[in-house]
Amino acid sequence: METAAPQDAARALLAFWRGAGVDMDEAEAVFSAKAAPATNEARRTPPIAREPFRIDPPAPKAKPKAKLQPADDAVNTARTLAAAAQNLTELRAAVDKFEGCALKATARNTAFADGAENAPILVIGDAPRRDEDEQGKPFVGPAGQMLDRMLVAIGLGRTSNVLISNTIYWRPPGDRDPTPGEAMACLPFAERLIELTQPKLLIIMGKLAANDLLQRDDTVAKLRGRKLQYKREGLAAPVNAMVMLHPAYLLSRPQQKRLAWADLLFAEAWLDDLGVKRAAHP
Ligand code: URA
Repeated sequence: METAAPQDAARALLAFWRGAGVDMDEAEAVFSAKAAPATNEARRTPPIAREPFRIDPPAPKAKPKAKLQPADDAVNTARTLAAAAQNLTELRAAVDKFEGCALKATARNTAFADGAENAPILVIGDAPRRDEDEQGKPFVGPAGQMLDRMLVAIGLGRTSNVLISNTIYWRPPGDRDPTPGEAMACLPFAERLIELTQPKLLIIMGKLAANDLLQRDDTVAKLRGRKLQYKREGLAAPVNAMVMLHPAYLLSRPQQKRLAWADLLFAEAWLDDLGVKRAAHP
């Protein structure tokens, strides 16, 4: 007798229980921990439920992180699919087609990108949460609404001049941190997104996305407020990049909003220098 592929069987089972009205977060966490690709590097906290974002104390010394190596076929497949995409639509289709990240098996939807195509500003966060998973769009839950308010404060918005995406496109069960293996498997798509869109300014939200994209191992405290350059082989020119406090962190630590405000003013001044037009704002 033919047996169903493990991913298909898992999807069917999760769909069955969800259909029966059961909240599957706990079960998804167990399932996904087993299904996630083996990882080789203890880069971040183990896959436990994600706690509100934290700013770590400044790291004693920034050690450039070892370059991520193609760990397995998934990374190579992602690279091939991403490289073949010639525009945003094709890249979205490539992400949809990709089966190399175990998170896809437990996610309801793929949350790839939302916002203005050809936008001068690209915002990249880490991974979808519950609302993003339900709607199949990045940053639409409480953190996303906070992000929208932050952007509006400096004349930016996803309907006009900002494109928003993540480094991971499927919700990690229970909103745990993505594992390094999951992050590595998806990274070629975020890299290609930057390559294709060539934004005037790349705004990276939070520590996880920052360290994945910039190939570092630093705290947000260390990275924010700095004019950085995103560089990669094959990129026509380095891309201006900055790191901000993640809006999810601000939701849990509203007293840090003054730091977020400083981040926004920093972005605003840099955009002015770059001659990026923005809407009139309050
Ligand atoms: N946080 C992120 O980094 N991305 C989302 O899409 C939602 C919350």
